[in-house]
Amino acid sequence: MIKLAPVSRPRFTNKLALFLAATTAALLAIYLFWSFESSVRALLEQRMGADPSPSPDTIIGIVKLILIGILAYLFVRALNFLFFGLAFRLKRIDAPTLIRNIFTIVAFTILFLIAFTFLFPGINLGALFTTSAIFGVILGLALQDTLGNFFAGISLQADRPFQVGDVITVGAERHQGVVEEISWRAIKIRTFTNHVVLIANSNAAREPIEVCPRENLNARLVLFNTLYSDSPAKTIHVVREAVREAENVSTKVPPIVRIRNFSDSSVDYEVKYWLEDYAKFNDTDALIRQRIWYAFRRAGLNFAYPTRTLFVERRSAAAHRDGDGGALVERLSAVDIFAPLSVEETGMLAQAAVRHVFAPGEVVIRAGDPGSSMFVVHNGRVKVQVNENGRPRTVATLNEGDFFGEMALFTGEPRTANVVALEETEVLEIGFAAMKRVFDTNPDLVESLSFIMAERRQGLTAQTDSSTPSSDSSGSLLSSIKRFFGLSQ
Ligand code: CMP
Repeated sequence: MIKLAPVSRPRFTNKLALFLAATTAALLAIYLFWSFESSVRALLEQRMGADPSPSPDTIIGIVKLILIGILAYLFVRALNFLFFGLAFRLKRIDAPTLIRNIFTIVAFTILFLIAFTFLFPGINLGALFTTSAIFGVILGLALQDTLGNFFAGISLQADRPFQVGDVITVGAERHQGVVEEISWRAIKIRTFTNHVVLIANSNAAREPIEVCPRENLNARLVLFNTLYSDSPAKTIHVVREAVREAENVSTKVPPIVRIRNFSDSSVDYEVKYWLEDYAKFNDTDALIRQRIWYAFRRAGLNFAYPTRTLFVERRSAAAHRDGDGGALVERLSAVDIFAPLSVEETGMLAQAAVRHVFAPGEVVIRAGDPGSSMFVVHNGRVKVQVNENGRPRTVATLNEGDFFGEMALFTGEPRTANVVALEETEVLEIGFAAMKRVFDTNPDLVESLSFIMAERRQGLTAQTDSSTPSSDSSGSLLSSIKRFFGLSQ
């Protein structure tokens, strides 16, 4: 990452040399003027005639005042440096520029007034200021903006809505950057293109200011989209993991990935993430987009761009329903209870099966509901939950190739438990008619099923308060299944 160097400033030694040169020049000028004062006065009297206006004394007084004023200014600068530059720094406090400026103005004004009263003892300054209405108006108009900025600067310092180092966005123009200085006149921000923007304090006081404090966990939103065919659960997982690892993404709060909108040709998402250093949000946003691109590549996800997709239906309804039929046959033949079935019978089951996809946390079947089908987990995982003392308790976790929902299907009783998807899960639903056909040709299947069901019932009985009678042995289950399916006993 390129680090932008701030504009170079005169070094301390240069500043000191300049200061010493200016002080020497001022002292020399004062010394010379004071030494040659009588000669200057004589020269002025000679040049200005008998009734000069202003008098040579006044002119000499003004020149002296200017020279003393310059010296006083240099003195105040030196004091300012000693006090704030050294003393404050020893205590590791960085005095705000505005405080330094106020100190300079007040100290300089005091010195100037002392010099003025000393040089012009006949003039009453108080009266001069209070009686001169025109002077007041001129001064008021001239200082209108300056004083406005000054007082707005004081209120900014008092309120401290932001500090040096914070990122702020000011006003309708949306000037955005890192605060570098708050002076008596303006707020100085460095934009993300390394430009310096000065915003007059009085303007800043009128405008809305968005502040992202340096010590705060500031968040950002990065937008992206996918095709409608890409699964939200997978997308959210993949992007969250990709973003979590990126540099400058805070580890304190995990990133949030969520669907923002269903657009014409895309599912729109946003990633909300929190930054360690908000001033680097441009780089971090870009890094996150890059990580998303690569994560998409690896996970086989697709960005959407404006498209119109024309779907032409050519397949038969059955072919459409089972899609990749080979995979379904393979899955069903791996289910232990269907192992005894012939290839044709498994194929028939696969054709009858209907695929459903569930998001993580979605309920596949609910306890107490009627049910006339069973399910095989094709992809993903589910948990079986029963109600214990009013709270859900997981009694089993079923993985790919496991089946559930057989109890209601084979006995006609209501569902005995909730089955909830633990992750994005695809299940194959097999109905009563298909199972009856299988039982007709494979009566032995009923027996192995009755064993599994008896075991599961025992599991339920052990864990629930609303117990299912434990007397349900595999023998009695076998005969009730046979009765339910109209098979010979
Ligand atoms: P059914 O009663 O139709 O609906 C809930 C399903 O949860 C139930 O069928 C079983 O398939 C399943 N189930 C209930 N108890 C257990 C268990 N102990 N282990 C595994 N699966 C179970």
